[in-house]
Amino acid sequence: MTTGTTMHGRVVLITGGARGQGEAEARMFAAAGATVVVTDVLDDLGERVAGEIGGSYHHLDVSSESEWDAVVADVVARHGRLDVLVNNAGILRGNQLVNETLEQWELVVRINQTGVFLGMRAAGRAMIAAGNGGSIVNISSVAGLEGVFGSLSYSATKWAVRGMTKVAAKELGRHGIRVNSVHPGIIVTEMTAHFPEMHDEDRRRRTERATPLQRLGVPEDIAEMVFFLGSDASSYCTGQEFTVDGGMHS
Ligand SMILES: NC(=O)c1ccc[n+]([C@@H]2O[C@H](COP(=O)([O-])OP(=O)(O)OC[C@H]3O[C@@H](n4cnc5c(N)ncnc54)[C@H](O)[C@@H]3O)[C@@H](O)[C@H]2O)c1
Repeated sequence: MTTGTTMHGRVVLITGGARGQGEAEARMFAAAGATVVVTDVLDDLGERVAGEIGGSYHHLDVSSESEWDAVVADVVARHGRLDVLVNNAGILRGNQLVNETLEQWELVVRINQTGVFLGMRAAGRAMIAAGNGGSIVNISSVAGLEGVFGSLSYSATKWAVRGMTKVAAKELGRHGIRVNSVHPGIIVTEMTAHFPEMHDEDRRRRTERATPLQRLGVPEDIAEMVFFLGSDASSYCTGQEFTVDGGMHS
């Protein structure tokens, strides 16, 4: 966490905050004094994280327009403001182009891309109304910087998030609202639990050696960047992509 940066008085909403990177982000913002609203579809895990950090929990399926509107309205009613939105929730489903089904494509788009649109729209409206500015951090991926073999739908959504971030930054900048995207490399979470690196020592060592910083990422690596972008330490950064991948895509 950026040394000395305080988030006291700030209200932070994190999607997919029940585990993995979202959980690490929730803990980091709370440790800096922010009021943190954890949201997810994994209610038991989300309640536990929120309880441990002194925050609150809301069920929020990011693909639901009505749930977004209800959660943001509740946050504003309770706290009078929303300062930071972290659009972190996402799913990874793999398939090569010729095997991809329309059903799976639409599921990934609904959660990873439409979810970010609905979140930015709901939070953007609330932030403009409150008049305090704000910061929206969208979690893309290195799959939003290049084409990743076997992940057509996922890559499509992560490229979309990168582009949507830039449009939103241009439109919301005049309201003091910043919008940036974060592009993690391979981070050890539930999402990557099936990757060969997590089961095969040789494969893991090869990937680590191919990474300039010689290791895989952990959720806290991403949380540090998200915290920076959510805080005033990044007050002149907007519309940009921030890659956190140990130097793999340098
Ligand atoms: N782990 C990696 O290597 C990696 C790399 C690049 C990008 N990312 C991105 O980072 C973000 C966080 O992933 P993670 O690694 O912590 O994985 P994770 O699977 O541990 O966490 C994802 C969270 O999103 C939640 N979620 C899924 N669908 C949802 C929905 N419809 N509504 C609300 N919440 C939902 C899950 O319940 C879970 O808590 C994702 O956007 C992912 O695409 C991950």
